[in-house]
Amino acid sequence: MKTWMMLVLILSGILVEAQSTMDEKDEKIARQVQELLDKMTLAEKVGQTNLYNGTWEFTGPVPADDNSQEKAELIKNGGVGGMLNVLTAKGTREAQKLAVENSRLGIPLIFGYDVIHGYRTMLPVPLAQAASWDPEVARKGAEVAAREAAASGLHWTFSPMIDISRDARWGRIMESAGEDAFLTSVMTKAWVEGYQGEDLSAVHTIAACAKHFAAYGFAEGGRDYNTVQISDQTLYNVVLPPFKVAADAGVATFMNAFNELNGVPANGSEFLQRDILKGKWGFDGFVVSDWGSIGEMITHGFAANDKDAARKAMRAGSDMDMEARAYEKHLEALVSSGELDEKILDDAVRRILTIKFKLGLFEDPYRYCDEQRESESIGTTENLAVAREAGRKSIVLLKNDKGLLPLPKDVKSIAVIGQLANSKDVPLGSWRAQAVTNSAVSVLEGIESAVSSDTEVTFAKGYTLTTGRRTFIHELTIVPEDETGFDEAIAVAKSAEVTVLVLGEDCFQTGEGRSQTDIQLKGSQLALFRELMKVNQNIVVVLMNGRPLAIPELAAEAPALVETWFAGSQAGHSIADVLFGKYNPSGKLPVSFPYHVGQEPLYYDRKSTGRPQTNATDDGLVFWSHYTDAPNEALYPFGYGLSYANFAYDQLKLSKSDNGVTVSVSITNTSSLDGIETVQVYVHDVVASWTQPTKRLVAYKQVELKAGSTYTVEFELTEQELGFYHQGYEFYAEDGTFVVMVGGNSRDVLKKSIDLSF
Ligand code: NOJ
Repeated sequence: MKTWMMLVLILSGILVEAQSTMDEKDEKIARQVQELLDKMTLAEKVGQTNLYNGTWEFTGPVPADDNSQEKAELIKNGGVGGMLNVLTAKGTREAQKLAVENSRLGIPLIFGYDVIHGYRTMLPVPLAQAASWDPEVARKGAEVAAREAAASGLHWTFSPMIDISRDARWGRIMESAGEDAFLTSVMTKAWVEGYQGEDLSAVHTIAACAKHFAAYGFAEGGRDYNTVQISDQTLYNVVLPPFKVAADAGVATFMNAFNELNGVPANGSEFLQRDILKGKWGFDGFVVSDWGSIGEMITHGFAANDKDAARKAMRAGSDMDMEARAYEKHLEALVSSGELDEKILDDAVRRILTIKFKLGLFEDPYRYCDEQRESESIGTTENLAVAREAGRKSIVLLKNDKGLLPLPKDVKSIAVIGQLANSKDVPLGSWRAQAVTNSAVSVLEGIESAVSSDTEVTFAKGYTLTTGRRTFIHELTIVPEDETGFDEAIAVAKSAEVTVLVLGEDCFQTGEGRSQTDIQLKGSQLALFRELMKVNQNIVVVLMNGRPLAIPELAAEAPALVETWFAGSQAGHSIADVLFGKYNPSGKLPVSFPYHVGQEPLYYDRKSTGRPQTNATDDGLVFWSHYTDAPNEALYPFGYGLSYANFAYDQLKLSKSDNGVTVSVSITNTSSLDGIETVQVYVHDVVASWTQPTKRLVAYKQVELKAGSTYTVEFELTEQELGFYHQGYEFYAEDGTFVVMVGGNSRDVLKKSIDLSF
């Protein structure tokens, strides 16, 4: 027998064995869960469905009757299933003891926390990670986050947040992977696998949570918590796909959402939670509600009172109640009176206990409470190296017209200007878990450590963006105008060879409850830019922000523009790596940048409309779908990003294959530098029973291209890529003409058509 055949047989033998061990393990857990469930009283079952906040840190409105003593008693009586915001190996051990050593059945608590982009070591914010288009960035980042969080006693992160976000006004766009379902799906799989690893019970992995189910990103007007009204078509084809990927990747939990969707709050949606998630997708983990959101069904006007809300949420499939305290107060009575079938409660408890067993908590409830491991695993040099790599891969070069970048290391003098340039805090981003305040490497520090000893680096603050307290939970005060630092900045820029001007947002301008109607640069930033351009035209503008910004003036006037988002603990080093060419930028935008906020929601995969363009002979007639004062197109489109190398696309070829179409394209690196290009494939199903977007990302590959060489890149598109969800959530492709587009962004593409039947 040929060696390779033997190898295949051996490998498949190993795989079959691994699968059957897995099944045996699952069967054993199912038996253990049932045995435990059989012993539980009604009150103990209800206890498992309660998720309480710890005593010192709140990530939502504080309930009026919060009382830690009472909580401790409840835990001791088996009245609590899990806690959030309880931290450290020591802290979680103490809380765990209350449950395990006092309650009748000693069922361990599950400890959850918002480890959104790192625990102590901050990775770039999720939107930035998505800009890398590199799933390894997401996977390795999640591994680091999991290792640190698990060492600090945690079992469960409320991440990834995979809400498709098309509206730059929405502050939570920063937590997402952006506007596209396909890119978000790629990142989702990597995040889930990174957090959970192969074995949930390993001490360096944690359970993940796909959130917010569903359509939270479509809050009307980009105003957080607002109503969501979207079509089934958008729900099936844009919103749900990343969540299905999460379920298929074995994500342990889902979090539902604050919003109502087409008239039904997510918590009370049997359609979302029972029919789709637990029905069609066969998800066997548990669903946690968002903070207080079961109770918010009353204010939505969907439930009459807490009791009604508890009944509706549990029936709809919300298994665990985060801080609404509705399950604690009413589930027992609801079951006793027959208003709620006990089988429904049993199903919820079974799901919760199953995850606790999978985490290994019944073998050893303190397995994650190891102070020694905690002191060795958090903020390590290895973790910081992952953050630095992730940071530089997330950076998007938007403009480099005069070839100012990369900067030579021995540049004589650099003026580094802007309050954000000196900030050791803003780059950490919002939702920063246990990051130490002011612990990031600032841009100034990054530059100082990158330049040669002969280079003179001078800093000037230039503008003041915010004043007063800057916290995750409070409103931020933006300084509307402040020109007091202009003179100093102008003087510094005047005498420097190059100016690096850092502009953008405070990190607390994005995140939960941080929606804005204006997405231009705030305060005196643009005014400063204008003044500096008068004295030194060698300006590299470095942007730091958590949402797409409307920056047409910068795009037109700044010679070089670099989008760095909030790049995490090592931000300054990651940014300097790109500025000085130690890393050739490879990031691509995961969101469209508008000219004007009025274009929002702006996304590339839009429909044609009946009047997509004006006719050349129309001579200024207004009767087409447009704005009279701004373009329809993005300033910087989805998928856009430059490199210090240049890539030329040519020879797009389509040929029919057994299952669809083979696409090939040739790409030449026409520069003298090696570089990475993300080759993107979009399709348009020209005529369909549900009209289709004029382009939709269906595949991409990142290729390393040596200077001066040409590569051919191939893609296989099958029904999977060419089909879509129809009425009734049925997926298939329709026969007809498909336009296939390939390019380095969603705008500049080569196109060809092909007729296909399936
Ligand atoms: C509310 C947020 O919407 C959610 O994403 C987060 O996980 C919870 N609060 C817990 O902090």
